[in-house]
Amino acid sequence: MRVKLVAGNWKMNGSLASSQALLKAILPPLAALDRAHYAVCPPFPYLAAVGQALRGSKVQLGAQDLSQFDDGAYTGAVSGAMLAECGCRHVIVGHSERRTVFGETDEIVAAKYAQALKHGLSPILCVGEVLGERESGVTETVVARQLDAVTARCGTQALSRGVVAYEPVWAIGTGKTASPEQAQAVHAFIRGRVGAADRRTAEALLILYGGSVKAGNAAQLFAMPDVDGGLIGGASLVADEFVAICRAAQSAQETVRT
Ligand code: PGA
Repeated sequence: MRVKLVAGNWKMNGSLASSQALLKAILPPLAALDRAHYAVCPPFPYLAAVGQALRGSKVQLGAQDLSQFDDGAYTGAVSGAMLAECGCRHVIVGHSERRTVFGETDEIVAAKYAQALKHGLSPILCVGEVLGERESGVTETVVARQLDAVTARCGTQALSRGVVAYEPVWAIGTGKTASPEQAQAVHAFIRGRVGAADRRTAEALLILYGGSVKAGNAAQLFAMPDVDGGLIGGASLVADEFVAICRAAQSAQETVRT
């Protein structure tokens, strides 16, 4: 059975002090949630301090990006080995902001996925279409291309060592959430595509939804059969919102069990 995961993507927000304050607010209520898994992905400079604060809690540490290279003359880049050393378990790969603002191609994203695996990190592979692509009916083509770039390089079974996050770009930070049905349709497409190559990998694959998830819509999204949790941006910076989303994952998980 798949266990739901809620991961907070803090993006380039906050300060060391606000990170500590946020953790102080979320860790006690999250300690009471035992059914799903939870993670936070702070900016690089805060990883060590956040990792320290997470000690003794079940909340896992993640990073927002990693280099496609091992080590060497790559000014500004951070390697998978460094992230592993900082205690990261997860790393977001191919977020739409990395693809659009920083020009990451499908090939670079696939190379980053491979690096994450090499260093024992669980990559959270983001895929998703922009508004124009949805409107012109090519959502599945785009998502398939992004997914296939990774499986071509790493193999389908490599997906079982990571997580996929479907994040329609038009829903990220816009307040426009995909409806539960829209999310479910793309999640089912992703599982079906992986399943055509490897049924067991597809059945075990966690597929998160991301894009304006809030306390008010998380429960309906998590109730969809192929929505295995969420990648949360803006709402992960607001303690009450993030805790409520985590509670929704816990409740959805309880429903699955009974
Ligand atoms: P959002 O961001 O929840 O603020 O829409 C999600 C993400 O970019 O991962």
